Parts: sequence; structure tokens; C-alpha cells
Amino acid sequence: MPSQATRPSLVGMPAVWLRDNCPCPLCRDPVSGQRLLHITDIPADIAVAEVVESDGTVSVLFHPDGHRAVFDRDWLARHGEPAGGGPPDPRTEEAKRLWSAADLGGEPPRGSWPRYLAQAGYRRACQSAILREGLLLLSDVPTAPGAVLAVAASLGYVRETNYGRLFDVRVESSPSNLAFTSLPIPPHTDNPYRDPVPTVQLLHCLDNAAEGGDSGFVDGFHAAAALRAQDPAAFATLAITPVTFGYRDATTELSATRPLISLDPRGRIREIAINSRSLQPVRLPGPRAAAFYAAYAAFAELLSAAPSMLTVRLRPGDCAVFDNTRVLHARTGFAQAGRRHLQGCYADLDGVESAVAVGERATTGGFRRKDQT
Ligand code: OGA
Ligand code: ZN
Ligand code: ZN
Repeated sequence: MPSQATRPSLVGMPAVWLRDNCPCPLCRDPVSGQRLLHITDIPADIAVAEVVESDGTVSVLFHPDGHRAVFDRDWLARHGEPAGGGPPDPRTEEAKRLWSAADLGGEPPRGSWPRYLAQAGYRRACQSAILREGLLLLSDVPTAPGAVLAVAASLGYVRETNYGRLFDVRVESSPSNLAFTSLPIPPHTDNPYRDPVPTVQLLHCLDNAAEGGDSGFVDGFHAAAALRAQDPAAFATLAITPVTFGYRDATTELSATRPLISLDPRGRIREIAINSRSLQPVRLPGPRAAAFYAAYAAFAELLSAAPSMLTVRLRPGDCAVFDNTRVLHARTGFAQAGRRHLQGCYADLDGVESAVAVGERATTGGFRRKDQT
């Protein structure tokens, strides 16, 4: 008698899951590894008619379509029921090492660009720091204009924005953004008015001879987790209240609406967006606006607190690379007469994940199309 339930040896997955994941060449293209079978091809009453197990494989006969799937046992073990109730998501707090400045010994994770270029294992360790700590300070990136683009390219793809593929951060005469003045800038994430937001930011120091202009970095996930522990209601308010960020200049008018703290469907911290320069008037009923402001202020307090903030003085050749959905950046004001010139650009975290995964193939035996899903 066919049954829609399956046996424990089939990792507890239902017949429809097994049918959908049949690896045969009719169901999966052998060249690309991509699925040929469409969900609507599977009969609604699909059931397992017979299971034949051997050492390395599990063969399943389905009813009513009479199809047979032969699974590799190890594949079933790797892809079946997950331990944590769902697939791991590398973007959430669960996959990160949260830090305060003291946890890092007051020093950002550092790397050397020449060594990064020369040694694949070292490069992977640096890229992993961007994913795990959300911050990497590369030294000895040539102080040539545009060099930051080579760093971004090594992390995947440059994300062009309204500021160009590359932007200069220095004092301008009619600045369209406070970044291009000598004013201090409190901790913030960039471009929260973009949808999607660029997820990696790079700032490369070409010159920093001005008095002041020191950089600060704060782990927004760490601060959000602290807020959740200390004031759960404030944390919840920030997580469920969408606000609008906007930016306009002569040729651009951008806006995006999102909460300051975004959670994944399982309630874990996944993204922070905070930027006082571009936050638009908060449109909420009066009492909810007051609650939002109280929570926003409590969060900003934690973000600016001395123990959170890592202070770094960028030297020419330093390139800070950080997760723009997690690690906030700031700078102190500087003397307008001094020379200070950074070049920045954006990239994305999925490109960094890809660079690490491709790098790991060399040590794990290479590319398996069949794993593609
Ligand atoms: C920026 C910015 C900081 C700095 O350009 O996004 O925040 O150190 N700059 O000038
Ligand atoms: Zn098949
Ligand atoms: Zn910025």
C-alpha cells in the first residue's frame, strides 16, 4: 500500500520532497545540475510505493507516476531535515561573531593587501572576517586613484550607485551630502534610501593629513542584541516600525522604507539601517511616534556608547571594508584646511560568500554541479 509518509531512513521527508529532488537526468539537467522537473509535474497524490536500500544508495519507487529515484545516502543526510528547523542563513546574527571594541582588543581585524593578492588561503581568511566580524582593514592598498575598485572586484562585483562606480570623500564647495564636508558624522549605515541597499562598503584612504577625521566602527548587531536584552519592547518597536529614508540632489530622488532593525522570518537580527542625515519625517500616529523616538534614542545611545565604538585612524593605503547592513561607520570632524581624501565604493555580501565558497573548492575537492539547487 503506497504511503505518503516515509521511513526514518529517508530523513523523515515526505514523498513530494523525494520526488522533487530526484537526481535522474530526466529530472535534473546533468550538465548544469539545474532542476528540469516543475512542481506542477508532480501528481498531487504522489506517494512512495517501494524503497530499496543498499550501502550507498536508497532507491525509491513512486506511485502513481511509476518514476524511480536513486539517491546517494550521503546526499540525503546533507540535504534532509535541518537541525535548526530551517536552512542556515549567513546574513543573520546566528552566523556572525558579535563584538564590542573591547572584544576585538580595540583593533579591527586587519589584513595586508599584497599578501591578500599573493596567498589564496590568507585571502579567504580576510574575506571570512568581512562575513563574520563585518569589518576588515586592509593595509598597503596602493594610494592610486581607483585602487579601491580592485579591492571591490576581489569581493565579487562593484555596485554602482548614484554616486558613481567610485566616489571621492573630501571637502567640496557645494556638498550634496554631509560626507563631503569636514563635519563630524555620527555612526550610520550608507544608502538606506536604496532598495536593495548596497551590502558592502569600502573606504580607501589616499590622504589623511588633517587634524581630526578619525574613523569609528560599531557592530550594529551587537548593539541591537544589547537593546533586545535591556529593553525588549524598544527592540520590538524598532523591528516592526518601517520608516522612510530619502536622498535628493539635482539628478536623483531616492527613497526606501524599512525598519531600523530587520529580522528574518524566524526573528533573528538580519539588517540594520540607521542614518540621521536621510531619515524622513516619521509618519506615525502621535503616541506611536513618541514610542518610536524613545526606542530610536535608546538604540542610538547604545551605538554611540564608548565601549561599542572601535576608533581607527586611517592611514594612506588603508582600505576599510565593512558589512553595510551591520557595521556602522562614523568619523570625527576635521580641520577644513587639512588634506583628507578617501575614495569609496560598494559591493555585496553574496559576492563575498561566493568568493569564499569558490576558494574553498580547492581544499574540499572541487565543484559539484549536482549540489546546485
Ligand atoms: C561616507 C562617510 C566617512 C569618512 O562617505 O559614507 O561616512 O570617514 N564617510 O569621511
Ligand atoms: Zn527522475
Ligand atoms: Zn557613510
